[in-house]
Amino acid sequence: MVERYVMSIDQGTNSTRCILFDHQGRLVTVAQREHQQHFPRPGWVEHDALEIWRNLRRVVPEALSDGGVAADEVAAIGIANQRETTVLWDRRTGTPVGRAIVWQDTRTAPLVDDLRERPGDEFFLERCGLPPSTYFSALRIRWLFDHDDGLRQRAQDGEVLFGTIESWLIWNLTGGADGGLHITDPTNASRTMLMNIRTLTWDTELLDFFGVPRPMLPEIRSSAETYGEARTLLPGVRITAALGDQQAALFGQTCFSPGEAKCTYGTGSFLLLNTGNEMVRSRHGLLTTVAYKIDDQPTVYALEGSIAVTGSLVQWFRDRLGLISSAPEIETLARTVEDNGGCYIVPAFSGLFAPRWRSDARGVIVGLTSYITSGHLARAVLEATGWQTREVVDAMNADSSVPLKELKVDGGMTADNLLMQFVADVLGVPVVRPMVAETVSLGAAYAAGLAAGYWSDLEVLRRNWHRAAQWLPDMDSAHREEEYDNWQRAVERSLGWIR
Ligand code: G3P
Repeated sequence: MVERYVMSIDQGTNSTRCILFDHQGRLVTVAQREHQQHFPRPGWVEHDALEIWRNLRRVVPEALSDGGVAADEVAAIGIANQRETTVLWDRRTGTPVGRAIVWQDTRTAPLVDDLRERPGDEFFLERCGLPPSTYFSALRIRWLFDHDDGLRQRAQDGEVLFGTIESWLIWNLTGGADGGLHITDPTNASRTMLMNIRTLTWDTELLDFFGVPRPMLPEIRSSAETYGEARTLLPGVRITAALGDQQAALFGQTCFSPGEAKCTYGTGSFLLLNTGNEMVRSRHGLLTTVAYKIDDQPTVYALEGSIAVTGSLVQWFRDRLGLISSAPEIETLARTVEDNGGCYIVPAFSGLFAPRWRSDARGVIVGLTSYITSGHLARAVLEATGWQTREVVDAMNADSSVPLKELKVDGGMTADNLLMQFVADVLGVPVVRPMVAETVSLGAAYAAGLAAGYWSDLEVLRRNWHRAAQWLPDMDSAHREEEYDNWQRAVERSLGWIR
């Protein structure tokens, strides 16, 4: 049988998807399942790792049968995943030790405060490229050890394993308790605070500092190379790539050259700028992260502006406030009014990430008067995404010598024309979206297909990129700066809420 497709698995914050792509990078078939979000306490966010694995076992055969594709037509599998989410499991039984702690979870905030005082941000930035934050995995492992007697010892004895979601899935796909591979890639490992950003190996000083035993850690392999067979689900089909979802989107947008950037608008939004083989240290609150490492080629780095809450604010507006019944309705509701009516929402639900890194911030709505309608609130929800993007782009421009000239976008929220126009307006640069908006999945497929020889080189992939939509800036600059100032005053009010 001819290998005609590459399979991509996108395990995201809300759902697990399986997509097949053809040689032109066209989407052939997709299957998707959502998993439950658990919010057991304010600021806590958890997932059931077994539910995620069960969902993967369903979406893979669903995608194949919906597309009428046989397993032996699949050239390779690539995995993209929500990053930083922490899973610990028993090596012998494959059972997770409690629920996975999700990247949005803020339970480690008190530990972060300690780290910022001592040993301080520099210690961490120098070694792993990240500032202390509730966002990353290491403090979650420490928190779990602090709350379960004997867990650290079991980890030390190699009985309990740690992984971000791709490790968990690859381990299960390649055999689970019956000899599954325990591996990760540098894009995911670079989000743990445990990997040395220069050497791409686990950093002894950081492991000692966080008290993380080495036997529990996965082996760090390249982002694209043959790992092994998916023998529990698709025997004979190789897994040849794994990347954090945001790095996968950068790859799917074919941002292969230094200076190219993209922003993915999902649950949160993540702007990544390719900095080539050079590791750039941010002076303005961005993260230094690994963009990808293909086989034994040199590492490609990125600067990242991570925004914790964008699409999830729309979800909250829908599910918790009930002001709309589906996410796309937010645009219709926002269009019932001319402007925000003086109202601003700062969605610091998980504190504020880039460029501020304030775990003590919490969400605020300011400027309320009796004039405000649900339409104004809907505008403020969308505008919050625009302003947060602006803050990250300002930081990126300040860090790099060349200002951003155009922003490539993707992700679910890019279907919202009002929002995308607002982003172009507040950035003052064109915003462009490609034909295939599923860039996370496409990026994982591209990396897997390159490693499997399905695609020959990056140039072939670049030729698959086609523009589908463009938004040009159209806002009076004095008005823009006045609104930006209002936004920043609103942000000031969100800071320091948690004492
Ligand atoms: O760092 C978190 C990010 O990887 C989550 O992305 O699209 O699954 O919400 P998403």
